[in-house]
Amino acid sequence: MTHSDIKSRSTYPTILAIESSCDETSAAVIQGGKVRSNIISSQLDHAEYGGVIPELASRLHQQQIVRVVEKALSEAEVSKHDLDAVGFTRGPGLLGALLVGTCFAKSFALGLGKPLVDVNHMQAHVLANFLQEQPPEFPFLCLTVSGGHTQLVLVKDYLDMELMGETIDDAAGEAFDKAAKIMGLPYPGGPEIDKLAKQGDPKFLKFPRPDVGPYDFSFSGLKTSLLYKLKDGVKADSHFLDDHMADICASYQGAIVSVLLDKMKKAAQDAGVKHLAIAGGVSANSELRLRFQQMCNEQHWKAHIPDFQYCTDNAAMIAISAHFQFQAGKFADLDVTPFTRGGL
Ligand code: KG4
Ligand code: ZN
Repeated sequence: MTHSDIKSRSTYPTILAIESSCDETSAAVIQGGKVRSNIISSQLDHAEYGGVIPELASRLHQQQIVRVVEKALSEAEVSKHDLDAVGFTRGPGLLGALLVGTCFAKSFALGLGKPLVDVNHMQAHVLANFLQEQPPEFPFLCLTVSGGHTQLVLVKDYLDMELMGETIDDAAGEAFDKAAKIMGLPYPGGPEIDKLAKQGDPKFLKFPRPDVGPYDFSFSGLKTSLLYKLKDGVKADSHFLDDHMADICASYQGAIVSVLLDKMKKAAQDAGVKHLAIAGGVSANSELRLRFQQMCNEQHWKAHIPDFQYCTDNAAMIAISAHFQFQAGKFADLDVTPFTRGGL
């Protein structure tokens, strides 16, 4: 069967998708663009090391992938023989982790005689917005903020995206995670800082604004500035950190959110878009979600925020991307290989 036969066979494709780029082993089934199952197995084992250990991530993916895929199929009440295609995350991500998902998807598709669809993880974060009841209208601007990336993306169509700006050093999620480590909070730091910041005073500490391109970001200076402020604070008062943890978190989080939204506002005004979206793990942040919505209300823009479960890494976003690629007739060959770095 040729790929064009497959395409004409179904405008309501049933697709199994696999995500294994970092520390979540996930599989999802999507039917006609609607999620039927989305199983996520998070690798909690990394917490004791304060960050993701690549080799450990690969081994845990290997241990979990069969169970996760079986569960995704059974929860969706779909037989593997009824699938129209198998999608998988090709990159960017950790090489060993990606290889587990890639090899599994290839073998599974080959064994079943189904076509293979390779998905870009960063595009998939953006397309997670199409899992919502009211998806964005093209063109729209998406701020993708994850543990490895911070991007401002002009989205012209499902598979036509232009990178307007990105971080020149640390990603926003990394800024959260590294700060949490400095303060002795558990990994991943983003949700911890988010929780503590709720009780804190955001004006307690002031952070510098890096001078980079209009749509670019830099977070490494922020983290260094935090380190020095904590050192000075503790030198003057040994209880500084314990007494002011919530205030420090609120100030630091506020500084990250302000930079993200100011750049996004400028990019949206310059691009003349009316629909804005956020995506990626950091879009789970409560302050970012609130202030993003407020900014859009003030500017009369339509704000789009994926459901919580579709913000951090998940296979449903890989599945919706594979769905659009399937409809566009974009399939991968069996010799496709993972890529670890790169934008969209
Ligand atoms: O998209 P994601 O799950 O994985 C990558 O592709 O990197 O993003 C993970 C990142 C981590 O840095 C984590 O700390 C951050 O998302 N994160 C948050 C929150 N929830 C997850 N950051 C701030 N506030 C949160 N509530
Ligand atoms: Zn991600």
